[in-house]
Amino acid sequence: MNSLWSETVKPTGFPPLKGDTKTEVLIIGGGMAGILCAYFLQKAGVDYILTEANIIGDGITKNTTAKITSQHGLLYHKLLKNAGIEKTKMYLNANQSALDEYRRLCDGIDCDFEEKDAYVYSVSDRKIIENELSALDKIGFNAEFADKIPMIPEIAGAVKFPKQAQFHLLKFIVGISKGLSIYENTRITELAPHTAMKPQLLLNGFTAVGNLLTPTVPRCPHMGCALKWNRAERSWDCPCHGSRFEDNGKIIDNPATGGLKR
Ligand SMILES: Cc1cc2nc3c(=O)[nH]c(=O)nc-3n(C[C@H](O)[C@H](O)[C@H](O)COP(=O)(O)OP(=O)(O)OC[C@H]3O[C@@H](n4cnc5c(N)ncnc54)[C@H](O)[C@@H]3O)c2cc1C
Ligand code: FES
Repeated sequence: MNSLWSETVKPTGFPPLKGDTKTEVLIIGGGMAGILCAYFLQKAGVDYILTEANIIGDGITKNTTAKITSQHGLLYHKLLKNAGIEKTKMYLNANQSALDEYRRLCDGIDCDFEEKDAYVYSVSDRKIIENELSALDKIGFNAEFADKIPMIPEIAGAVKFPKQAQFHLLKFIVGISKGLSIYENTRITELAPHTAMKPQLLLNGFTAVGNLLTPTVPRCPHMGCALKWNRAERSWDCPCHGSRFEDNGKIIDNPATGGLKR
């Protein structure tokens, strides 16, 4: 299936990397994560380059919903129960700050940014909606109960997060990548032994790419993303929408609905 976003944007046309080069920081992959890293490193005056195997935004990024929200399923009820009030507040605040940052960044970019309310709804279970609202109330967030939402005719109830957002994420990527040090059609195929791997960003990048390239890494049953092994919690975590699985494959967290097939 083609991406709606790709079909309505002109590619950027960054050159491939020719020959050898040296850099303090190598960002592998020009998806949303890599491009934002490049943008903030450039702003901070750090020497970096970003290489993208194909064209920027052409990975998972081009197939996303393009919503910018702090609402990730019915997460807060669970988070409050498992992590306590302070950490749940931190999670919400970090997401609300990211939303503010996107609002600020999009201000200078022609990317169809629009403020929108976000909803999570249930067609049959009002209780889970009420539980979520009660958790949000405890952490001081002004979510609302809705008994009607756009497009879905009959619901048991919904949690409404006011003033969230949506945008054309590839127009955003094209806009924000102007002037960044990017090489397209440049796949990293091998990492030589290194000693100066200071930025955590780079370590994370290597792990993520390693996971993508290793055939033994399990795939998420939700939409097939490569899972990442979380050593601290001994779980398989999905970087795409946050599904999590125990070491033995049993599901811990949605949106996946079943465990891993081994
Ligand atoms: C269906 C779906 C919907 C989603 N909707 C949303 C949403 O609405 N809002 C939201 O915030 N998040 C959403 N997400 C999560 C989303 O995936 C992330 O927010 C983000 O787009 C992921 O960006 P990324 O840079 O991590 O990955 P990618 O976009 O996949 O970027 C990785 C890049 O690395 C490149 N690459 C890989 N290997 C190499 C190599 N060896 N050398 C060079 N380059 C390489 C790839 O070509 C690719 O371009 C959604 C995810 C999915 C699957
Ligand atoms: S692919 Fe969606 S949670 Fe893993």
